[in-house]
Amino acid sequence: MKVTVIGAGVMGPGIAQIWLMGGHEVVLTDLVQKALEEGKESIYNSLQTMKAMDIIKNDAELYMSKLEISTSLEQAVKAAKLVIEVVPERMDIKQQLYGQLDKLCEKDAIIVSNTSSLPLPEIFPNFRTGKFFVAHFFNPPQILPLVELVRNETTETEAVEWLRKELELCGKTPIVVNGFIKGFLVNRMQLAMTREALNLLDQGVVSAEDLDKTTMAAVGFKSAWQGIFNTMDFVGLDTVAFVNNIIFPDLCNDTSVPKIVTDKVSEGKLGIKTGEGFYKYDQGKREEVTQKRLTVLLEQLKLWNKYKPCDV
Ligand SMILES: NC(=O)c1ccc[n+]([C@@H]2O[C@H](COP(=O)([O-])OP(=O)(O)OC[C@H]3O[C@@H](n4cnc5c(N)ncnc54)[C@H](O)[C@@H]3O)[C@@H](O)[C@H]2O)c1
Repeated sequence: MKVTVIGAGVMGPGIAQIWLMGGHEVVLTDLVQKALEEGKESIYNSLQTMKAMDIIKNDAELYMSKLEISTSLEQAVKAAKLVIEVVPERMDIKQQLYGQLDKLCEKDAIIVSNTSSLPLPEIFPNFRTGKFFVAHFFNPPQILPLVELVRNETTETEAVEWLRKELELCGKTPIVVNGFIKGFLVNRMQLAMTREALNLLDQGVVSAEDLDKTTMAAVGFKSAWQGIFNTMDFVGLDTVAFVNNIIFPDLCNDTSVPKIVTDKVSEGKLGIKTGEGFYKYDQGKREEVTQKRLTVLLEQLKLWNKYKPCDV
């Protein structure tokens, strides 16, 4: 099958890599030639690392032989069965692109957007109705298994189920969300915990470092292997009910951005990209944490592929 990925920024190359690893012909397209060359290089490096770690069977070169890069949208989408839009989260850019895609894509092509927040099939109800929906990948997409497929009532069930199957064949773990809810699922779950963490930090009962240890050494350590409902079954639902009753009324339910975040934003402390957020990062530290994050995620992927926790 021919798969076209439009946009070679943070997410596009990793998404292209998923389909290459699934044995497909992939075209990565962008307006900027340099982005395409850098994207191609990052795919090659990632495949080489995965091969060295025994995560993939074949040499990087074999997968790369099925990758084409092109600045011509027309050439890129011609004969493509699946088109994945990964351009910036800006309405004007997406709108202009969909105008072109409507003219250029095959009539039966499935077109999906990696948007993080925009209800695109509702915004463009006449664009490829039924065959256009959201497929939301997670960064880095070639490693994180989950893909949220977000459909609405006009989406063709066969189109969603087809993509679900194809993603599974590529080793991914797709889930289907029926209806456009803000933040889809993962961001909602994550933000519920983030809100409580910021609230506790603001109260001064704990440091950011120790709060991070709660997710890394307890919640997160276990949650790649045991989901929320499965965990409750292990705890015992009588205990769950008892504890909910005591703790729920005490949890934060603020709806505004916490001051601790707005203060950092106004001071220009935006995180790793500016060298300081909740932690400080000089150039060496930035490279060290980025590399360590990648290595640990790849080790986790090996365990994931071995034990397949979502199959149980
Ligand atoms: N960055 C993330 O972690 C992340 C995670 C999940 C979803 N997303 C979503 O994925 C999409 C892309 O995000 P990103 O961070 O990769 O963006 P990005 O800005 O890093 O990359 C976008 C790329 O699209 C190219 N582009 C712009 N207009 C184009 C056009 N008309 N045709 C072809 N290429 C074009 C740009 O040159 C750029 O290389 C957004 O909708 C975003 O919300 C991002």
